[in-house]
Amino acid sequence: MDLRLDGKVALVTGGSRGIGKGIAKAFAEAGAEVMITSRKAESCEAAAKEIGPNAHFVPGHVGKAEDAERVIDTTLEQLGGIDILVNNAATNPYAGPTIDVDLPRWQKTIDTNLTAPLLWTQLVWQRAMKDRGGAIVNISSVGGFHTSPILGVYDVTKAALIHLTKQLAAELGPGVRVNAIAPGLIKTDFARALWEGEGGPRVAKSYPLKRLGEPEDVAAAAVYLASDEASGWITGQTLVLDGGGTIAFPR
Ligand SMILES: NC(=O)c1ccc[n+]([C@@H]2O[C@H](COP(=O)([O-])OP(=O)(O)OC[C@H]3O[C@@H](n4cnc5c(N)ncnc54)[C@H](OP(=O)(O)O)[C@@H]3O)[C@@H](O)[C@H]2O)c1
Repeated sequence: MDLRLDGKVALVTGGSRGIGKGIAKAFAEAGAEVMITSRKAESCEAAAKEIGPNAHFVPGHVGKAEDAERVIDTTLEQLGGIDILVNNAATNPYAGPTIDVDLPRWQKTIDTNLTAPLLWTQLVWQRAMKDRGGAIVNISSVGGFHTSPILGVYDVTKAALIHLTKQLAAELGPGVRVNAIAPGLIKTDFARALWEGEGGPRVAKSYPLKRLGEPEDVAAAAVYLASDEASGWITGQTLVLDGGGTIAFPR
């Protein structure tokens, strides 16, 4: 199936780098008008320039309500609607046992990874999708399915995002479909510490498909979930995209 998004407007948070940029590029190639947003205007501008004429940008912090409103309103004014929202931006300010986390970093992780996807979905629903329908794709993580010695705080937010996806899908149907993607290790800046050096090949070897993920792997799944033709009867689901890591034989 040749998946097309012609005539659609997509808003991608964290669209300036890594997985978000990969998704923005794939959406633009499929014919959508894409609004890229992230904190740094220069990075957004560079990404939009690289992607081409149907990529646009407006900077904003996903955790700030006033930024969310401004980015969404600017998208509506400039592009005439929002048919697809990708809640992709996330943070991971703490590595260590969850029992020891300080409350400011716990709160920052919750605010960025969980509250922001809810807030952006609320605003996009109220201002664009309630009447016209649409598709929302949340970027979770395989971390949302298991425990970790050091990434527990981040993983709690990603597990909650999987449940938020189900909850909002139940509430927003039939007009709006809400799905998530749970990637394994993808070669981006965010996860550099996990794949640079010896770690990367070791993890890749543990995956049945014997390689780490690339942003393009996630982007292809996002196009699928955003497209009504391809996934018009799928909602509330989380697509695990991890080279088989979660079903591999125990190491
Ligand atoms: N890489 C992996 O292995 C992996 C695995 C599973 C899940 N994920 C998830 O995939 C998503 C994307 O990760 P990535 O690996 O592509 O990360 P990345 O390469 O570090 O890119 C993160 C993007 O988010 C933006 N961003 C960060 N904080 C933001 C904020 N508070 N407000 C607005 N934008 C913000 C960054 O731009 P600015 O700096 O300009 O804001 C950048 O565009 C995240 O949800 C992550 O949890 C990643």
